[in-house]
Amino acid sequence: MIQVNLSNIRPFIGLPYEAALAPRLHIAHKHLQQGDGVGSDFTGWVHLPEQYDREEFARIKAAARRIQSDSQALVVIGIGGSYLGARGAIECLCSANYNLKKKNTPNIYFVGNGLSSDQLSEVMELLEGVDFSVNVISKSGTTTEPAVAFRFFRRMLEDKYGVKGAARRIYATTDRARGALKSLADSAGYETFVVPDDVGGRYSVLTAVGLLPIAVAGVDIDALMAGAADMMTVCAADDMASNPAWQYAGARYELYRGGRKIEILASYEPNFRFMAEWWKQLYGESEGKENKGLFPASVEFTADLHSMGQYIQQGERHLLETVVRFGASAHENPVPYDTANGDGLNFLAGKPMDFIRQQAMDGTLLAHVEGGVPNIILQAGQINPFTLGELIYFFEYACGLSGYLLDVNPFDQPGVEAYKKNMFALLGKPGYEDLRAQLERKLGR
Ligand code: PA5
Repeated sequence: MIQVNLSNIRPFIGLPYEAALAPRLHIAHKHLQQGDGVGSDFTGWVHLPEQYDREEFARIKAAARRIQSDSQALVVIGIGGSYLGARGAIECLCSANYNLKKKNTPNIYFVGNGLSSDQLSEVMELLEGVDFSVNVISKSGTTTEPAVAFRFFRRMLEDKYGVKGAARRIYATTDRARGALKSLADSAGYETFVVPDDVGGRYSVLTAVGLLPIAVAGVDIDALMAGAADMMTVCAADDMASNPAWQYAGARYELYRGGRKIEILASYEPNFRFMAEWWKQLYGESEGKENKGLFPASVEFTADLHSMGQYIQQGERHLLETVVRFGASAHENPVPYDTANGDGLNFLAGKPMDFIRQQAMDGTLLAHVEGGVPNIILQAGQINPFTLGELIYFFEYACGLSGYLLDVNPFDQPGVEAYKKNMFALLGKPGYEDLRAQLERKLGR
């Protein structure tokens, strides 16, 4: 269960807002539940934890077992919504150091999420002498970054295993029927998994997009889905008192209206870093349009208290802070006693690391609120697949509500096209000749 603690936003909000906002949340909620709001073609994720394709789910698990048995590494090719969820979940549940750990599951390398030649070479070098498979993920099947990366890794596989052998090691997650990747996969005989038509990229982590790589890392994806299904039931409640997504969406919207334009997502777990990246895409792409939307940022505490902490405490007061707190760690790690006590730390001897962190969390909370930063606490359970499933669904649902509160379409991303058009023109893609001439002039070349 996720509990939303709003006691530390009260000093920043003049009047109780819940009653006034509830009718608008009710409308937003109905649109999500009934799939009849703006962008409703992309609300398939709302009931997904219950209404997913069981046959495909079994194939995902079978493919994961096959990859685990025949590969020492899996290369996951994808960007944005076809990348961040899987990486976030794997790092959160298996560690950011997953690839360095002793384990009986393959290393996982994420590529195609940028255009760095150095990164590409590095992963290709790491794969020398290693049995590997590829999961190429692209809903549209036409995104440049993953498509370019796929050329390299498909070639590597074909050189190593032959065309037929490579085909048995390539898993394509893409549209059911359309797109270049789907055609390529069908003609080459790759096993394919579907990104459902009604689920957009950034809401797709609980489809094959996220589930296959997450399962390859050895995560219990049944538990992940069970957590999401549980939260789906909780978020179906049509009232503020029992729906945590209403509470979170309502609070951040009210703070935004009061001038808090930046939301910092903080966590005291370094392994949460890529879940925060996933959250940034989810909220940034869903809300940031029509000159509206909170700017989503993230910090990792306590590390960033020694870097961003100064700004948060005393910089411009346009921030709100949302802290994800997890239940107790399974590792106690009491601080060792030291007879010499040269560092003066014996007052901590015997105290578990979690206890010390708890005091840091509480101390930071009080300092930031006193410094003028409203603070929302999201209390989650212990880090495990079930809790993460709950959290993923909770954030998705609150994000859908938030978009509707802002009166924008939370499921499109028209702004992403601008850079693509310019890049294609500058790269000389056929059909972009006029734009290319204009851009070359602007660049003075
Ligand atoms: O949320 C989105 O729709 C985007 O971030 C996409 O996931 C991203 O652009 C990748 O698109 P595709 O899966 O079509 O390659």
